[in-house]
Parts: sequence; structure tokens; C-alpha cells
Amino acid sequence: MKQIALLGFGTVGLGVYEIINLKRGAFFSSNDAPAKVKWILVRDINKRRTYKPTDCTLTDNFQEIINDDEVDIVISAMGGMEPEYTYIKEALKRKKHVVTANKEVICAHIDELTNLAKENGVKLYYEGAVGGGIPIISSIIETLKINKITKIQGILNGTTNFILTKMSKEKADFAEVLKVAQELGFAEADPTADIEGYDVMRKICILASLAFHTHAKTEDVHLRGISNITLDDVNMADSMGYDFKYIGQALLKDDKYSISVTPVLLPKDSVMCNVNQEYNVIMLYGDIIGELCFMGKGAGKDATANAVVSDAIKAFTEEDTQKHINFNETAHSYGLSGIKNQYYIRATVNNYEQFESTIDCAADTIKKNNLTYTNSKVFFTTELINSSDMLALYEKLKTVSEDVFYARMEHNLL
Ligand code: NAP
Ligand code: HSE
Repeated sequence: MKQIALLGFGTVGLGVYEIINLKRGAFFSSNDAPAKVKWILVRDINKRRTYKPTDCTLTDNFQEIINDDEVDIVISAMGGMEPEYTYIKEALKRKKHVVTANKEVICAHIDELTNLAKENGVKLYYEGAVGGGIPIISSIIETLKINKITKIQGILNGTTNFILTKMSKEKADFAEVLKVAQELGFAEADPTADIEGYDVMRKICILASLAFHTHAKTEDVHLRGISNITLDDVNMADSMGYDFKYIGQALLKDDKYSISVTPVLLPKDSVMCNVNQEYNVIMLYGDIIGELCFMGKGAGKDATANAVVSDAIKAFTEEDTQKHINFNETAHSYGLSGIKNQYYIRATVNNYEQFESTIDCAADTIKKNNLTYTNSKVFFTTELINSSDMLALYEKLKTVSEDVFYARMEHNLL
């Protein structure tokens, strides 16, 4: 029987334990189950827990785990960079397979850890780190056997999709829905990562690194959060026939990449616009297969644990599915140059002077008959303009208005 050490016993860790030791998963349901969780690492061993396991050992000492030669595989679901990064390296060096749901560690160290796993003849899998239960990593690896992937777009964060859905469908308040998402176990320990986009940034970089064979770096990502979106924006979008979605996008052109994470307005009849609640959707474009679309629960205990445990089963039953992965290409980011879009803009103005200055700043870009003024707010959409011109306009608007929010309008997404 394979022995598993589980690092973390929160939302994901509990789900993993339930599938394996409580035999919720078919693979583990027989009496001679092929694997079991032997150790669980937690930060605070005295914490009150909804469930206390009695068939394995709870510890706050990683050394006990790493020094146990019976442990074949380490499943890590703790969160944050340290000490998880160090523990993963230590496990690989001790020739234990590693499965992790930690996107922060994988995003920053995907090449180093992949090489370390190869050097030590063990497997490193991280399906649960991106898209919750969606098997997107294995699908990218499969697609790459035949295709060159040049585009990845999608909704990659369950918490923010849950918030945007509740704001649009139930006119709920941003802060209150965020609290619900935290209670449901969707949000990160620090939810800033969700609402300011660091989580999507890390996930899209992991996918881009795999798809484009290069270590895509977070500093190359054009990132904007959704924390200052308001119900006024949601209602205005609704009246125009759109909804807001938070989209991660990675494009490859002439061996250079462009990665962005931004709020986007999508027409209500588009596929992505109808992916709601904590669901995620990811679209890939391969030069031979064309468009492929994957959808499923992007956050939460069972969906994520399903992905993590599938990886663990693969680790001890199959050939290494990731042995051909490399990050040898030296692609660089081309930023946003050459990308043209139409934009939605809202600026809050508290007096006539601010109103006039706002209109003056934007005069050249405002689409004809597309300006509304109500309750001290100016709303307008632009003509097609360069992304760099939009950034310059945003900087100018911020100097004359109280609060400015903008989003790209997309008509070509799935
Ligand atoms: P969580 O509910 O906050 O649980 C974290 C667990 O890790 C807790 O049991 C905690 O111990 C333990 N832990 C944290 N720091 C530790 C340390 N320094 N030493 C030992 N144990 C430590 O987090 P989660 O939602 O399960 O997420 C875990 C990981 O999965 C994160 O990387 C997250 O990004 C990723 N993920 C989460 C989801 C999701 O839907 N929640 C989905 C995909 C991926 P205590 O119990 O003692 O506090
Ligand atoms: N906080 C993340 C989300 C968890 O909401 O998508 C899944 O990665």
C-alpha cells in the first residue's frame, strides 16, 4: 500500500483525506485500498477542527514526515510561498513524488521544480493549482503532442466569478459576497490574491509556461484587479447587454507572448458570459485542433480534491505524463503593443469642473452618442483604441476624476 503525507488540512486537505482515507473515491473504496494518508501536517496542532482524523498522525513537524522512508508521495495543500516551496524541494530530493495545489510555488518555480523532479526520477503534478476540478494541465500536455498552442483565454478564479455573478444576478454588494465566497472555502487565505488578480496571474502564467515552452514571468503580465467595480458598473453593463467577467489571456505571436488579467465586458449571449458562480472556463487554441473549451468548478473542496487525488493516482499507477515538458524556449513578452480594443469607462465626478475636465480628456476617444451622466458619474464607451492609448487615458482621467474604472469590451471571445 502506498503511503501518503498530506501537507495542509484546510479546505483542500480535508477533501483529499475524505476521498482517500474515508473511501469517498471509487479507487479507494475496496478493503485492500491501494493507498492511504499516513501523516497530516498542520500549522497549529491544537486548533479546533470540524473533523479529527483517527487513522493517521497529525503533526506540526515536517521533519517527522520527510524522515519517514515509508512515505511514497507528498501532497501539498498549504498555501503561500514558504515553507511549502522548501518542503516540496525537500520531498523531491528525497525521491518522493509530489502533488500540489499551490499555484504560487508552481508559477514562480515551475522550471526549477520540474527539473528537480526529473533529476530525482520522481513525478511533480499540479492539476489542482489551475482551474480547480478542470483537467486543464493534462489537456494542454495532450494537445501539445500534436499542436502548437497560440492562445489561452478564460475565467480562472472561482471567487471573483462568484462575486461578479451575485452582483449581476442578485445585485449583491461586493464585500458581502466576498465574505460568502470565503465561508464556502473558495477564496485564498488572503483574498487580495483573488480580487486583485494575483491568483489568476499565477494560473495563466502556469498555463502559458506549459503551452509556450517558456517560463512565463508574472512581471510580464498586464494586471488589473476588480476590487473597484461597483453595482453602478454592473447595472450600466446590463443596460448595454453585457456582463463583467474577469479574464486571463495568454497570446503567442511570432514567438513572443502577451499575458493579461483584466475585467472584461462580454455580450450576454457569449459562452463565457454564461459561465457563472464558482465555475471556471478555459479556451485553448491549437493550430490543428482549433478551439477547445473546458468548463467545471474552479474552486472548492471536492472539485479541487478530485484534481489533486487524480494526480496522486497517476503518480503511482502511470508513466510520467510530464516527462517531455520543457521550458527551453526563450520567448519574451511583447506587452500590449498592437492590441486594439473598445473600452467601457466610468469616472466619478463631484462638481462641474471635474465633469468638464473628464470630457475634455476623453473627447477624442468617446464613441458617438455613448455617454451617460447620472448620480455624479460619467459613463462612456470608446472607439477602437490602442491598449497603450487606453492606459495613457486612464492615467489622465485619474488626475481629474475621483474614481475611475474601465474594462475592455470583447466581441470575439467564445
Ligand atoms: P486553507 O483552508 O487555508 O488550509 C491551509 C492548511 O494548511 C491548514 O490546515 C493549515 O494548518 C495548513 N498550513 C498553512 N501553513 C502552514 C505551515 N506553515 N505549516 C504547516 N501547515 C500549514 O487553504 P486551502 O483553501 O485548503 O488551500 C490550500 C492550497 O490549495 C493553497 O495553495 C490554495 O491556493 C490551493 N487551492 C485552493 C483551492 C480552494 O478552492 N480552496 C482550490 C485550488 C487550489 P491549520 O489547519 O493548523 O491552520
Ligand atoms: N481562490 C481560488 C479561486 C481557489 O477562487 O479560484 C482555486 O484556485
